[in-house]
Amino acid sequence: MSDHIQIERLGAVQVIRMNRPEKKNALTRAMYAAMSKAIVEGDADPEIRAHVFFGVPGAFSSGNDLQDFMAFATSGDPVSEVIEFLIVLANARKPLLAGVDGLAIGVGTTLNFHCDLTFATPQSFFKTPFVDLGLVPEAGSSLLGPAQMGHQRAFAFLAMGDGLNAVEAREAGLVYKLVETEELEATVLKVAAEIAAKPPQAMQIARDLLRMPREPVVERINLEARHFAERLQSEEARNALMAFLTRKKG
Ligand code: COA
Repeated sequence: MSDHIQIERLGAVQVIRMNRPEKKNALTRAMYAAMSKAIVEGDADPEIRAHVFFGVPGAFSSGNDLQDFMAFATSGDPVSEVIEFLIVLANARKPLLAGVDGLAIGVGTTLNFHCDLTFATPQSFFKTPFVDLGLVPEAGSSLLGPAQMGHQRAFAFLAMGDGLNAVEAREAGLVYKLVETEELEATVLKVAAEIAAKPPQAMQIARDLLRMPREPVVERINLEARHFAERLQSEEARNALMAFLTRKKG
C-alpha cells in the first residue's frame, strides 16, 4: 500500500485521495496499485456505493511519474500497474466522481473520462502532452475523448496537447460543474452521498446503460498500451523525458 494514496470511508462513499504534493501528485506504480485495490475492494463491498477521487490543493495530478516512464524506457520494465489501474477504472461498477483543483495532466485528465461527475475549481487546468512526450493518448481517451467532445476538440486536446482551462473543460463535457475552491470537497461529497442514497441496483444499471460498453473501452486501453510501450522505447520519447528530468529550474 502506498502512503501517497489515502483511502477514507465516509458513510457509503469511498474517498481515494492522491497525496504526493511535493511532486504535484505525479503517480508512481505503488500509487496506481493502491488505487486499483481500493476500487476493486470498494466495488465488492455492498456498503460502498460511490468512489470519489481527490488530489491536493493546486494539484489533482501531474500525470504519470516521468521518472518511472524513464525507467521503463531504459530498462524495458513493464508498467503493468498502470494498465491494470486503467482497466480497473474502465470496469468500475459503482459511480466515480472527481474533485479537481489545479493541475490535471496526462492521466490526471484522462481518468476523468471514466468519471460520471467531475467537479473542478475555476483555476483547474487540463492538459495531455502525450505527443510532445513522444507518446500516445492512453486510458481509452482515444475512444472516449472524441465521443465526449467531438473529433476536432479531441484532436486539439489529445493529439496537439492544447490545454483546457476550467470553463473550456466544462464546455467540452469533461467537467460537470465549476465550484469555488473552498466548496469543492464538500460539494463532491454531498453529491456522492446523494448518489449513495439512491437505490443501488437501479443506480448501477443506469450507470452501465449510460456508459460506453466496457469491452471496446478495455480493448482500446490495451491497444493504446501496446503503442505506448513501444513509443516509450523510442528516441522521441527518451529525448523528451530526458529534457524534463534534466531541466534547469528558473
Ligand atoms: N513526474 C515526475 N515528477 C514530477 C512530475 C511528473 N509527472 N510532475 C512534477 N514533478 C516534480 C518536479 O520534477 C518537481 O520535483 P523537484 O522539486 O524534485 O524538482 C516537483 O514535482 C514540482 O514540480 P515543478 O515542475 O517544480 O512545479 P511547476 O508548478 O513549475 O510545474 C508541472 C508543474 C506539472 C506543470 C510540471 O512539473 C510538469 O510539466 N510536469 C510533467 C507533467 C507531465 O508531462 N506529465 C506526464 C503526462 S503523460
